[in-house]
Amino acid sequence: MSSRLEADHLYKVFGRRPDQAVERLRQGADREELRADGTTAAVIDASFTVEPGQIFVVMGLSGSGKSTLLRMLNGLLEPTAGHVRFDGQDLTALGDRELRDVRARKISMVFQHFALFPHRSVLENAAYGLAVQGVPRAEREKRAAEALELCGLGGWEKSWPDELSGGMQQRVGLARALATDADLLLMDESFSALDPLIRRDMQDQLLQLQKTLKKTIVFITHDLNEAMRLGDRIAVMRDGRIVQTGTAEDIMLRPANDYVASFIQDVDRSRVLTASALMDTGVTADAPLCACETATPDTTFAELCAISTRLTHRVSVVDGAGRVVGVVPRRRLLGFLGDESADPSPCDNPEGKVTARA
Ligand SMILES: Nc1ncnc2c1ncn2[C@@H]1O[C@H](COP(=O)(O)OP(=O)(O)OP(=O)(O)O)[C@@H](O)[C@H]1O
Ligand SMILES: [Mg+2]
Repeated sequence: MSSRLEADHLYKVFGRRPDQAVERLRQGADREELRADGTTAAVIDASFTVEPGQIFVVMGLSGSGKSTLLRMLNGLLEPTAGHVRFDGQDLTALGDRELRDVRARKISMVFQHFALFPHRSVLENAAYGLAVQGVPRAEREKRAAEALELCGLGGWEKSWPDELSGGMQQRVGLARALATDADLLLMDESFSALDPLIRRDMQDQLLQLQKTLKKTIVFITHDLNEAMRLGDRIAVMRDGRIVQTGTAEDIMLRPANDYVASFIQDVDRSRVLTASALMDTGVTADAPLCACETATPDTTFAELCAISTRLTHRVSVVDGAGRVVGVVPRRRLLGFLGDESADPSPCDNPEGKVTARA
């Protein structure tokens, strides 16, 4: 039911002679050079694909072009150059009417400050997208109630928005987006206005919902920890360009440049890195599996440390079929606790043998 989204060499230039500006950008000009003649290159040559069921996070500082990119994905902004393809359709080739139709049926947006209608009930607010689609009242109320239930707001249907906390109001926004059955969910700093605990809660809820709903999601944030928690893949933007795209681990372990490296300094590695990135795979095929506790490839670093303290040897990593797919030596775990960049060299004493010192 969900669909693939593709951004293909997207550019958005604000100001005079945008086509000419794109030409100059293609030849290597940067934002600053164009700014000198009063032109803003908001998005420069952005390409990526989001597979169905994936959460693709776009991260970057204020002004890096995230919202402009998102607005091109749903056709609210026409790209200066490039294409957006969704569900087999080139959105950039559609007329206004077809585009409006696609936007109403297939795409939902959730913003940072979700504006609810104050004089409509929570249920009516959640049903709003369906009302726009012309869905009859009984059906839209049923679907909105289901979406509210999914978002943990069952029982609040008849309440008014001002009776809800900020986090709950944001959940109504999410419910509105989910109620429409849109395959593509575009979320622009959707959780940024929430306080940290509620924000975490919303992130968990989104991950939980995504397990069953399997939407195609583009999520924008300037918070790297949020990006790392949510993103199946993450694009880091700087000055209009995507400077790196990869999994959280790719970005942590192999930052493409100093900019990305400085960005990830403060990330909580213990929750991002997983056994799949930390384990040695070479020495394992026939590693004996004792009856001890084991990890799976997505066990986090924090959990691995806990397991490791309960064992006298390295931690075996086991796949769904019970096969050992790798081992994590304790030394590797200790190496990651330091501030230095990750130590990628394999453990030279994988058996953990203790050698007597002279
Ligand atoms: N309609 C517009 N006209 C002119 N310039 C614009 C327009 N919209 C955005 N810009 C410029 O494009 C650049 C990127 O803006 P954008 O809103 O996409 O950034 P952002 O990454 O979403 O930032 P934030 O994190 O603050 O929301 C900025 O320099 C902005 O001033
Ligand atoms: Mg923005």
